[in-house]
Amino acid sequence: MENFRFHNATDIRFGTDHIDNELNDAVSKFGNNVLFVYGGQSIKKSGLYDRVLKLLAGKNIVELPGVEPNPKIESVREGQRLAKENDIDVILAVGGGSVIDASKVIGSARYYDGDPWDLVLDGQKRFEIDQLPLIDILTLSATESEMNVGSVITNPETHQKFGVGGPNSPAVSFLDPTLTYTVPARQTAAGSMDIFSHLCEQYFDRAENNDATKGMIEGLMKSVIKWAPVAIKEPENYDARANLMWTATMALNGIVGEGNVNDWTVHPLEHELSAFYDITHGVGLGILTPRWMHYCLRDQTTIPLFARFARNVWNIQEDDDTTAAGFALQSTREWITSLGFEMTLPEVGIEDEVHFDEMAKSAVKTGNLTKDAYVKLDEDAVKDIYRNSMIK
Ligand code: NZQ
Ligand code: ZN
Repeated sequence: MENFRFHNATDIRFGTDHIDNELNDAVSKFGNNVLFVYGGQSIKKSGLYDRVLKLLAGKNIVELPGVEPNPKIESVREGQRLAKENDIDVILAVGGGSVIDASKVIGSARYYDGDPWDLVLDGQKRFEIDQLPLIDILTLSATESEMNVGSVITNPETHQKFGVGGPNSPAVSFLDPTLTYTVPARQTAAGSMDIFSHLCEQYFDRAENNDATKGMIEGLMKSVIKWAPVAIKEPENYDARANLMWTATMALNGIVGEGNVNDWTVHPLEHELSAFYDITHGVGLGILTPRWMHYCLRDQTTIPLFARFARNVWNIQEDDDTTAAGFALQSTREWITSLGFEMTLPEVGIEDEVHFDEMAKSAVKTGNLTKDAYVKLDEDAVKDIYRNSMIK
């Protein structure tokens, strides 16, 4: 196991009774001027918007609506302007990962005088300035933005979608599984795939004898494999929504990445797809993951870990490692397909290879894939995975 330092200061309030009882106090701790950030119509339709305003009655609320999926730098620029002009004390983000991601960078941009895109290109700058505190109410289980320092921001003009880490995770995150009852089946599926992918990115790793981490990941994988289909079928099943929510949080709050060696692979490949084509992150991951696993299995050194994945996650009883590894790939593909979203690039509107060269180049560079990936990928290998994703 590698050396590590772990620190996570997010105060998690999980369950159904915290928001009404505690939101006002949690916000008041930081001040009266609140930047209320949210996405499209979902929180208005569900009644959460009115509920929040009622709970914060008396405070000076400035709204930043319209943060889109794959949040755009323009929303961050608008948030920066509002935060500066209104002397904001605290940000309240209500929504999924996109809203929370944008809010984290707005929290830094409040104290930055240039264009916030600088803060995405060079995250180090965020460590040299103050930050606004962030409180969030999560409405979708997927990214784990609710308990990590990450943000992923898109610049549509340059076709760039970059992840960036800041100094702070949210100060307080309210995780009420019932708020995810209204998440549509396709988005539930995409979110579940995102959770599963975060776990794969950290499981397929070359650190030896890190059973503590591997065992936790196997348990979390089993949870998402079991509960995603239930939540898709029964959107108001509390156990399903609660397990998905806590699994998502645990999958990327840092704990199950500790002691690992490798960096991530499928996410850099997917971020190129959503940068160029604005597709749903989890769907892109679902299309790429089986093709990436297939590529990994060409390398004989990956077989023992895939065999362990087969036995411990998919309950495959098979003595021969190579056969077990093949079954694991098959089970993974079947489970992803069963979630019900598109499984090829043309089905999500990526009908030709015109951008593959550019995307592969950028993925290799931003993901450091020739150096840090579990199975190293050069540009040709990335294009191979994209091409295999064009066909069933
Ligand atoms: O905009 P509204 O109307 O709220 O609708 C949203 C949006 O259309 C809807 N939604 C959210 N909660 C809902 C709901 N609909 C009904 N009922 C609810 N309760 O869902 C749609 C997608 O929302 P979004 O926030 O975009 O989804 P998600 O949480 O999956 O976030 C995706 C973004 O996070 C990034 C992705 O790249 C993508 O940009 N990631 C962030 C990470 C991080 N911060 O650590 C890591 C991830 O790997 C990921 O890259
Ligand atoms: Zn993800």
